Amino acid sequence: MTAPRAFVVGWPIAQSRSPLIHAHWLAEHGLAGSYERLAVPPDEIEAFLKNLPESGWVGGNVTVPHKETAFRLASERDAVAEATGAVNTLWIEEGKLCGGNTDAIGFLANLDDRAAGWDARPGDAVVLGAGGAASAAAWGLKTRGFRVRLVNRTLARAEALAARLGDDVSAHGWDVVRHLLRDARLLVNTTSLGMAGKDEMTLDLSPLPATALVSDVVYVPLETPFLAAARARGLATVDGLGMLLHQAVSGFERWFGVRPKVTPELRRLLLADLGVVE
Ligand code: ATR
Repeated sequence: MTAPRAFVVGWPIAQSRSPLIHAHWLAEHGLAGSYERLAVPPDEIEAFLKNLPESGWVGGNVTVPHKETAFRLASERDAVAEATGAVNTLWIEEGKLCGGNTDAIGFLANLDDRAAGWDARPGDAVVLGAGGAASAAAWGLKTRGFRVRLVNRTLARAEALAARLGDDVSAHGWDVVRHLLRDARLLVNTTSLGMAGKDEMTLDLSPLPATALVSDVVYVPLETPFLAAARARGLATVDGLGMLLHQAVSGFERWFGVRPKVTPELRRLLLADLGVVE
């Protein structure tokens, strides 16, 4: 039998750190197999995905901008994929392309890991953004009993996502964010603001209660200006690296047959690659 080969597909893909994670787990468990970056442009992704069951790959991860196309082309989907409209993990079952979304579980596991007890008293959560990461975070927060306030520059996009996610998720513009922050237990950034090379996030965090937790799904830089501002205010913060690590677990288990662990050693490996000393 040939060693299982998995991939991460996106456009561009050079920035993906997923290969580091899977190579670490393959070595840790002494498994034969590989996990490779694949750059596939938007006009070729449909053909790539349609051909996947016959291609010899055991499956892979899907990243920006292909998660919605993967959702559309998967014959079977898990419940989170159905709820969020995005697929980030693919595998083949009985010759069929199956898709799941592990971003929501990754988002929750990161908070559980880095801020234990964060969901002990659910209330309002403010989620900035309305893209794929926002839908995963909002879905996850809903399952933990939070009322989710989506705040997005393009209000119609937040409204569409709120309608998709159903009860306890509402859509708002940036003009009311100060007001929403006053009651927030949790504030999450899922926009690309604050990402290296993108526009800065200039949100004033002063209305947040002193007990609020602040998290960012961005992890380059590891401490975004948004998190730095929250920390300067004395608020608890959780960076986005753990979401990347935790979302990788179930794909690895499907493709290579062992459920891996997110360890401090794995986090250190990624931090070294990011050039961060903790
Ligand atoms: P992902 O799937 O990774 O979440 P995305 O779908 O590209 O990424 O979404 C990016 C998010 O960042 C969106 O919510 C986007 O707002 P719009 O829906 O209005 O585009 C938000 N975003 C990006 N640049 C922004 C900016 N300069 N100001 C405010 N929001 C911004």
